[in-house]
Amino acid sequence: MQTRPFGKTGQSFPILSFGGQRIVDGHGCTEDEAIEIVNTAIDRGIRYFDTAWVYSRGQAETRLGKVVAHRRDEMWIATKVFNPTREGARRQLEESLTRLQTDHVNEWRFHDVFSYERLDAFTGKGGALEAAQQARDEGLIQYISISGHRDPQVLLEALDRYPFDSALIAVSVLDHFFRSFAEEFLPVANTRGVATIGMKVLGLGSLTHEVERSLRYAFSLPVSTVIVGMESMAQLEQNLTIAESFTPMTDQERLTFFQEIIPLVKPENMPWKADSSSDPEEWDPPARASWI
Ligand SMILES: NC(=O)c1ccc[n+]([C@@H]2O[C@H](COP(=O)([O-])OP(=O)(O)OC[C@H]3O[C@@H](n4cnc5c(N)ncnc54)[C@H](OP(=O)(O)O)[C@@H]3O)[C@@H](O)[C@H]2O)c1
Repeated sequence: MQTRPFGKTGQSFPILSFGGQRIVDGHGCTEDEAIEIVNTAIDRGIRYFDTAWVYSRGQAETRLGKVVAHRRDEMWIATKVFNPTREGARRQLEESLTRLQTDHVNEWRFHDVFSYERLDAFTGKGGALEAAQQARDEGLIQYISISGHRDPQVLLEALDRYPFDSALIAVSVLDHFFRSFAEEFLPVANTRGVATIGMKVLGLGSLTHEVERSLRYAFSLPVSTVIVGMESMAQLEQNLTIAESFTPMTDQERLTFFQEIIPLVKPENMPWKADSSSDPEEWDPPARASWI
């Protein structure tokens, strides 16, 4: 599989990485299956694993942790913090480390930074950025990251406020047509040496009839790596096969894909572009919508 450099970290990762949100009961994946999928992913060369404190009340992190306990050195672990306050973020980090059975994560990401208000909360006085810098000094995390799938301008503002090491962004072919992270965010991030991780590549299921072209489209963008949510061995196998035989899309292939996909560019196929709740009561939510 093709590998690419990951920002300024000195690391390189294969183009296909693992979205760890869906290895849970809620997606019909048992614990034994989850462990087998993650072990196979590592055996086949995947190194980058994304998860989050908020996924399925901790089940996603806990299951990943059952592999981390045996194979920590083979895995790059990125987890996310949902609570934007300093104290709340610290508590979530400690819980993440316990669930993941490790003493440090490679990246710690501010989760779903969908608005300027939420960015203010993360980066302002008493916010999670203070907890992140302290945790980095203590060796609990290595790199500080940010994620968003709603508005690329909010993440551009984030880069102006703080030199984030990486950003997880929505880069599906549907995203090309509305608030495009590929068009608005990637050029700036790449100029500044910020590592970029693509998500929403299969449109949360809207593009599962177009798996090959959707993955090829994303791999063809100037991103560092791409995470795909996988909940079965069959999905892992298919996505690995596409990644291993990847050749960049030609301009003509890209144009044809755009023309054929345009009818799907509708709000109901892109729920991650909608507004999210700003209610502080939801900073430690028991459950979140599937696109978070
Ligand atoms: N704000 C954030 O930071 C944020 C938000 C959401 C997700 N994430 C991360 O991103 C990862 C990817 O999630 P996403 O939201 O971007 O979703 P996605 O990858 O666009 O879609 C994932 C879904 O596509 C389907 N799929 C995957 N491979 C397939 C294949 N070969 N054939 C057919 N279907 C296939 C599966 O759905 P079905 O089998 O159910 O149809 C899978 O659950 C998550 O695991 C998580 O780690 C981050």
